[in-house]
Amino acid sequence: MARSLQLERAAKNFTIAPSLLSADILNMGAHIDSLKGETDWLHIDIMDGHFVPNLSYGPSLVSALRKRYPEMCLDVHIMAEPEEYFVDMFLAAKPDILTVHYEAAKHIHRLIQHIKSCGAAAGVSVNPGTSETLLTPVLCEADLVLVMSVNPGYGGQSFIPESLKKISALSDTRKANGYSYLIEADGGISPKNVASVASAGCNVAVAGSAVFGKPEPDKVVAEMKRLAGGKL
Ligand code: DX5
Ligand code: ZN
Repeated sequence: MARSLQLERAAKNFTIAPSLLSADILNMGAHIDSLKGETDWLHIDIMDGHFVPNLSYGPSLVSALRKRYPEMCLDVHIMAEPEEYFVDMFLAAKPDILTVHYEAAKHIHRLIQHIKSCGAAAGVSVNPGTSETLLTPVLCEADLVLVMSVNPGYGGQSFIPESLKKISALSDTRKANGYSYLIEADGGISPKNVASVASAGCNVAVAGSAVFGKPEPDKVVAEMKRLAGGKL
């Protein structure tokens, strides 16, 4: 199945995916609109209070976003265990990308194939304590690899510098094998470190508190894209 336009664009131009976790929950639509088209990605964190120590949204939020923002790339990141139990209810909400955690899935290869067969792009994620080398057998199948650059569960944490090595290694592996997965980094990314994340080979940076925690989210996104150097 062909990748969506937004994924193709992200392969060529560094992309910011604002994380809704830091948006004003009672004014989410207005907060999304304040991005003013600086990015067409939205990162949506699903947390179960079990795999990660926090609870967030259910599929109804993703369905509502799909309805109101049909052109946006809905980048859904499921931090819930077992992943197998949650995937179908979120696929029904028609995300563009569904990312699952290596650590929370029993059959990660089967799950990636299932997500793709249902028409979404399949992402696979590793926590800071998990080596990216464990993903080797599924890299040929993945549309996106999400490197957690903080421990999952909360916005506003500090970037873990070791993540840069993982991003570089994944970028080297992609080149050596002719793979096409996007590399996404998630957690603690701001104008201060976005350039180093981009030069390590990352295509998409998730940013929550750095974007929605500021009075003019559109300006932060524009600045982060500029600092990352535009094209890869
Ligand atoms: C953390 C989430 C992140 C989070 C990032 O578990 O996966 O997407 O929203 O927030 P910041 O950018 O504030 O670290
Ligand atoms: Zn996330």
